[in-house]
Amino acid sequence: MGRVKIKGAKNACLPMMAASLLTPESVVLEDVPELEDVRTMSRLLKALGVEIFRDRKNERIVLNSRRLITSTAPFGPVRRMRASFLVMGPLLAREGHSRVSFPGGCAIGTRPIDLHLKGLELMGAQFTMDEGYIEAETPCLHGATVYLDYPSVGATENILMAAVLARGTTVIENAAAEPEVVDLANFLNSLGARIIGAGTPLIRVEGVTSLKGGRYRVIPDRIEAGTFMIAAAITGGDIILENVISEHLTAVIAKLQETGTLVEEPQKGMLRVRSRGRPVPVDIKTLPYPGFPTDLQPQFMALLSLAFGTSVISETVFEKRFMHVAEMARMGAKIRIEERTAIVTGQPLLQGAAVRAPDLRGGAALVLSALAARGISEIRGVEHIRRGYSRLIGRLRSLGGRVYLLPS
Ligand code: EPZ
Repeated sequence: MGRVKIKGAKNACLPMMAASLLTPESVVLEDVPELEDVRTMSRLLKALGVEIFRDRKNERIVLNSRRLITSTAPFGPVRRMRASFLVMGPLLAREGHSRVSFPGGCAIGTRPIDLHLKGLELMGAQFTMDEGYIEAETPCLHGATVYLDYPSVGATENILMAAVLARGTTVIENAAAEPEVVDLANFLNSLGARIIGAGTPLIRVEGVTSLKGGRYRVIPDRIEAGTFMIAAAITGGDIILENVISEHLTAVIAKLQETGTLVEEPQKGMLRVRSRGRPVPVDIKTLPYPGFPTDLQPQFMALLSLAFGTSVISETVFEKRFMHVAEMARMGAKIRIEERTAIVTGQPLLQGAAVRAPDLRGGAALVLSALAARGISEIRGVEHIRRGYSRLIGRLRSLGGRVYLLPS
């Protein structure tokens, strides 16, 4: 039986790093993993004038935004990582101005930002667009009631960060309730913000005049945890995960148990996952939290491609999150796409093959398929995987996986 310690959540620490722009005092974030996306966000914040000290050994990062030199976010990081757009709200709140290049869509869909802009506009921001940049100005952000047509995680976070320094009260209706949104709100409150309702569809923020500095530990990464849980299920394994919050994984635990996988909580903060052979097929529908997370859809599809029958996967969050299907087919998976639905006919075996990671979670899913497949697989596009998983190869090997990094 192998053991793996889950690291801090990428999708919690990225907005917190952006939120450090809201205070001139130092902010210390603990359990910040070594990820490409963390490096990208650091580069972006440094270009704005933020002083950053990275203590890799202790997975700590210290940020100080006392002296910002510009409120224009450089093109590079924003194109590379959609989360860069999360500096829009904090810069508007702190400087009354921000200029950010339109975030690129990526492999999983167009991913607009209309809800981000709708909320900030209601709070007093005026926008102009030129040369692929969005420029936002405001004499002073004021409270507003913002209804989100979709419980967008990023839009909720951008509006939340702008609201903490806005004049008056902001209410976000149909807000995202993801644990990472709650963690951001808890972090902001630890700096002196006044947010209530995070984790529910109704969030209320009383604006304050300033925030102080502070120290905060990021929650464990539920998507990394789910990835390792599925790794155990797909390989007939038996592993213990440490540093997990099982309440953040209820949908994933339930669906894994429906496949016949044993999932137990030997003690708080720990999960044991044991495969009981070939999985039973189950239907999956991705939904906003607490529904089944879209970020584990590709990984779960890998598991179901080996099931005893047919599974139906509905991807309701993103319109194109099936780029991994063609690659899985090269390994013998039988998957048919109809719009946002994938019909997975489970096979007894997968064959090793040369495949290419289309994006972060699709790449992780290909690693899982390759761990279970017969024969050798070569996976290109490892840079996608490095965006969201720290030392994945070494940690899988310590669990018994035969995974090696080839010289590029
Ligand atoms: C966050 O992305 C996560 N990223 C994603 O994780 C995750 O898949 C997603 O939330 C959903 O849970 C980070 O937190 C850094 P959304 P985000 O805004 O904020 C539509 C990973 O693998 N939408 O909730 O971009 C959008 O098109 C990444 O770690 C609008 O229509 O997700 C999409 O269909 C991938 N208008 C849906 O909402 C908007 O203004 C969900 O997007 C904003 C979003």
